Amino acid sequence: MNSRNESPSRNDRPIGLFDSGLGGLTVVKAVRAAMPNENLVFLGDTARVPYGTRSSDTVIRYALACAERLMDYDVKFVVVACNTVSAAALPALRRALPVPVLGVIEAGARSGWAASTRGRVGVIATQSTVASGAYQRALTALDARAHVAVNPAPLLVPLVEEGWLDGPVPRLAVERYLQPLIDQGIDSLVLGCTHYPLLRSVIEGVLAERAAQRVAVVDGAAATSDELRLHLEDSGLARRPEAQGALRILVTDLPTAFANAAARFLEAPLEGVPVEQIDITVGRHLQQPELVVAPA
Ligand code: DGL
Repeated sequence: MNSRNESPSRNDRPIGLFDSGLGGLTVVKAVRAAMPNENLVFLGDTARVPYGTRSSDTVIRYALACAERLMDYDVKFVVVACNTVSAAALPALRRALPVPVLGVIEAGARSGWAASTRGRVGVIATQSTVASGAYQRALTALDARAHVAVNPAPLLVPLVEEGWLDGPVPRLAVERYLQPLIDQGIDSLVLGCTHYPLLRSVIEGVLAERAAQRVAVVDGAAATSDELRLHLEDSGLARRPEAQGALRILVTDLPTAFANAAARFLEAPLEGVPVEQIDITVGRHLQQPELVVAPA
């Protein structure tokens, strides 16, 4: 760790992560595993999920509101734990925020490229991410010869939010979304949406059955966490390794049935993790939102 610039109180500040919903908790899980010493604040905009079917102007507006709200928690770094927001709003967020901002697309593309043996990478993502061309650009920037096959998979987000992670319905949807990519001979598949890792076993099952060759399935969570660690170290913002990190979760809709869903994404019980409902719809320039539910 670079300890030259390390000042305890500055580095004890949390890392802020946000997503349109709960999918970003898959990134939180990777960051917690790699950096258990860091304090994390995760904001899930559960009142407005999904973002992936909206226009990029709307996604940018929502993303700025979420990120602004995270600044109220004195975060030292912002991780956009959402592919849709990373695809649409990264430049706007970097212009607007006084702290470094990291997205998930480049890490996802790097993981997909590294896992590919023949340079044929498939990507499934939300409609908005696919339309942005962000994965196509990130992959061809890694190697201009990359063959990139993308397909939007919009039904997978509501299935995951509902907890439908196996059985005939997700399987049919996955088959339908993957077949055009299988037909193009992909040998790696990027799960280009933070919700999709929860459907990994259905996805792997369909690929094993239908693809002629092995297809490696990757997501950007672990690579994003590696990149975050490097950024923190390089900028002297990493927290001391022996510290014990805490997680705090903010949601914008009622946290009803939240614990079960969040535990699924984190693959860990939520015990001891405070969950608060906040309001971000007005933006802090208009009116300071109030905390409407006290920490659990
Ligand atoms: N978490 C979002 C992503 O990674 C998908 C959910 C949504 O559509 O809002 O793209």
